[in-house]
Amino acid sequence: MEVIIQKTVESAASLVANLIARELRAKPALVLGLATGRTMERVYRHLARMHSGDSLDFSRCRTFNLDEYVGLSATHPGSYHHYMNKHLFTHVNIRRRNTHLPDGTADDLAAECARYEALIRKCGGIDIQLLGIGSDGHIGFNEPLSSLRSRTREKALTVSTLRQNAAMFGGDPDKVPRRAITMGVGTILEAKRCVLLATGRDKARILAKAVEGPITSMISASAIQLHPHCTVVVDEAAASGLRGVEYYRWIFENEPEWQEFRQKKLRRSRHERA
Ligand code: F6R
Repeated sequence: MEVIIQKTVESAASLVANLIARELRAKPALVLGLATGRTMERVYRHLARMHSGDSLDFSRCRTFNLDEYVGLSATHPGSYHHYMNKHLFTHVNIRRRNTHLPDGTADDLAAECARYEALIRKCGGIDIQLLGIGSDGHIGFNEPLSSLRSRTREKALTVSTLRQNAAMFGGDPDKVPRRAITMGVGTILEAKRCVLLATGRDKARILAKAVEGPITSMISASAIQLHPHCTVVVDEAAASGLRGVEYYRWIFENEPEWQEFRQKKLRRSRHERA
């Protein structure tokens, strides 16, 4: 695992979007695992800009979202189908048939979960899985005590998640569906690469536990420590609870993979000073 600390929320989101863009250019039929939530909105804004400004091509890209609420149709404004259309799919040239989210309205939810897992396998597995982190440490909707080997399944959401996500439901936690379909922790860990983005001081404490604390099913995000290729991108505020900050900065400065990003940053700050 590596931790990349960026000065601002915007530069953290931009780095993640640039990383995805680089992978997409290298492999146009990329299988991209997507997350929703406020943190990701900036990433999708950057990707949409790269599509219109730099002709970033999504025409062969396939996507799989982490989760969807049970009982919400694709057109419900609180659904993740709606979120993805609003923030990404309608802004880029992705083919709708190449985008996948679990169907929370399926009659047989267990069969829907099995179908979703099979579809991911059929596409050759996920190349890059984007992750956010919930205030209770969840990735996807893998709430505390989710098995670290869990697969796509139905889960009950915690009170803290209902509160965290209430904004999309008129600010009322009681209006947030109590159950969701989510990829399991085991499903997520099978992605070839994971990229977790966390921003803001609210995430500092839980992020530090996930990255530097013990691996525990009480904080499903701590499972990323088991992943052979996981990049955690944070802004200074989210990094404020981390102990190893100096070490993480040193690695970022010396890692060849990030050279082009460091140069871009240098060019940006020269431009700002000029
Ligand atoms: C949603 C998802 C969640 C969010 C997490 C952070 O698809 O996977 O794990 O990433 O709840 O949400 P925000 O960014 O709204 O704080």
